[in-house]
Amino acid sequence: MAKPERDDQPVLQPHTYDGIQEYDQRLPNWWLLTLHGSIVFAFLYWAYHFQLGIGKPDREVLDAELSQLEAKRLAASSSLDDATLWKLSRNAAKVAEGKAAYQAACLACHGPDLQGIKGIGHRLSDRTWVHAAGPMGVYRVLNEGVMVNGIPTGMVSQKHLGNDKLVALTAFLLSTQEEGKWQVIPRAEEPSQR
Ligand code: HEC
Repeated sequence: MAKPERDDQPVLQPHTYDGIQEYDQRLPNWWLLTLHGSIVFAFLYWAYHFQLGIGKPDREVLDAELSQLEAKRLAASSSLDDATLWKLSRNAAKVAEGKAAYQAACLACHGPDLQGIKGIGHRLSDRTWVHAAGPMGVYRVLNEGVMVNGIPTGMVSQKHLGNDKLVALTAFLLSTQEEGKWQVIPRAEEPSQR
C-alpha cells in the first residue's frame, strides 16, 4: 500500500502513458495569482469599457487627440480661407467647440437646431444663404455683423467672442453644409422669414 502523502508533497498519478508517469503538482501561488488576477482584470475591463461606458476605446481616444492637434494646426495657419474652414468643419474637436459656443451665443435667435426663428434670426441649416457667400462669408458675418442699407440688423458683430470661437462657430455651421452646394438668395426670399 502506498504510504500516505504529506499535504505539500506532489501526488503521483496512477496512470502511465508511454512509460511516462506524472505528478499532480499543486500549482504555484504566483501562477494561481496570475490566473485569478487576469479573470478579475478581464471582468473589470469589460465592465469599465463595455458596460458602464466610462472608458473610451483606444481608437476614440486617439481620434479625439488627433483631431485636436489638427484643429490647432489649421487654426494656427495665418491665412484663413475657404479650404481651411472646410477642413475645420470636418474636425470633430473644432465642431464640438463651435456647437457649444453656438448654444451659448446664437441659439436664442437662430433656434436650437439652426432652423431660424421668424422675425428674429435666419435659418442656418439649409443651403441657402443671404449674407454669407461661402465659408469666409460666414466668418465675415460673425466678425462684422450684418448691416442692411447702412442700418444694423439683429445680427451684430460677434468679435467679442474672440477669433478662436468665431473660427469654431464657422466650422460648426459648415459642418451641416456640403461643399459645392452653396446658394446665395435675395434677402426677401429667406425661407425662415416668410
Ligand atoms: C439678436 C439675435 C441674433 C443673435 C444672438 C445672433 N444672430 Fe445671427 N442673425 C440674426 C439676424 C436677424 C440675421 C439676419 C440679418 C438680416 O438680414 O436681417 C442673422 C444672420 C446670420 C447669418 C447670415 C445668414 C445668411 O443667410 O447669410 C449668420 C451666418 C449668423 N447670423 C450666424 C450667427 C451666429 C453663429 C451667432 C452666434 C454667435 C448669431 N448669428 C447670433 C440674429 C442674431
